[in-house]
Amino acid sequence: MLSVASPPLALPNKLPIHFTKFAATICAKVLKTVFPNAAIASPIDYVPLSTSWNKVAIMNSTEIRTIFDRIAPVYDQLNDWLSLGQHRIWKQMAVKWSQPQAGNTCLDLCCGSGDLALRLGRQVGATGHVYGVDFSPAQLAIARERSQRQYPRPPISWVEADVLHLPFSDNYFDAATMGYGLRNVTSIPHSLKELHRVLKLGAKAAILDFHRPSNLQLRAFQQWYLDTIVVPIAHNLGLTEEYAYISPSLDRFPTGREQVELARQAGFAEAIHYPISGGIMGVLVLAR
Ligand SMILES: C[S@@+](CC[C@H](N)C(=O)[O-])C[C@H]1O[C@@H](n2cnc3c(N)ncnc32)[C@H](O)[C@@H]1O
Repeated sequence: MLSVASPPLALPNKLPIHFTKFAATICAKVLKTVFPNAAIASPIDYVPLSTSWNKVAIMNSTEIRTIFDRIAPVYDQLNDWLSLGQHRIWKQMAVKWSQPQAGNTCLDLCCGSGDLALRLGRQVGATGHVYGVDFSPAQLAIARERSQRQYPRPPISWVEADVLHLPFSDNYFDAATMGYGLRNVTSIPHSLKELHRVLKLGAKAAILDFHRPSNLQLRAFQQWYLDTIVVPIAHNLGLTEEYAYISPSLDRFPTGREQVELARQAGFAEAIHYPISGGIMGVLVLAR
């Protein structure tokens, strides 16, 4: 069992929004200059099909929950710093793709500290409701605290549960999101089936996660970034093993095309995978 220690290094609070936009512009320009032939924010060709993601997961649910409990105190700031604020833009894109409307009942799976659920809350307004589901009590405590600091209080219930066994009846939700969760569940097919079960007919879902770009230079850049920036920073915070798992989990993660296939097998009527930021991230957009 890992002990829960406070991080040795305190990070500054969130990056200002103008910095996020500035970083987005710079990143897009750098990516375009260095990789002129890479597709940015458009469907791309996919790498050959692999099936390693379907093998037994390396970690079990308890180990995964322990990791997310442990990184909870620094999770938000680390996301900001490691993505130069970009994760906020990617999350906003996912929320938009899930098409939440005022008055809707929405679901955010693997909600963590609540980024996507809070965004959904703004879209559904006072007449709607959002359920943020996660099995990490430490992440949920931060999510709850963040929503309590907002005025008016967002219409969100934070639910401690396993997304593989959702405590909701069939056909319950108008829209759903999942940010960086699908790569972490122990069964992707099961998770997609469970999501399909709780959505209403015609409801949309958007699933954001890392993606291996098909462009080899971008892929090398992503690997370099994970190995040279992400893991050393996490190491300095005493969180080496928590962040070193990203790369192997990404290797096992299905490609966009495979995600589409799995979603169809789970029963979704429509499934499209959109690579974003040159394919280093992707959003799987589904309609029930
Ligand atoms: C990388 S975090 C993402 C948090 C948040 N969605 C975001 O984008 O910032 C993944 C979250 O998934 C949760 N998680 C992983 N497997 C889960 C499962 N089977 N049931 C519920 N939560 C799960 C973890 O506890 C963690 O909070």
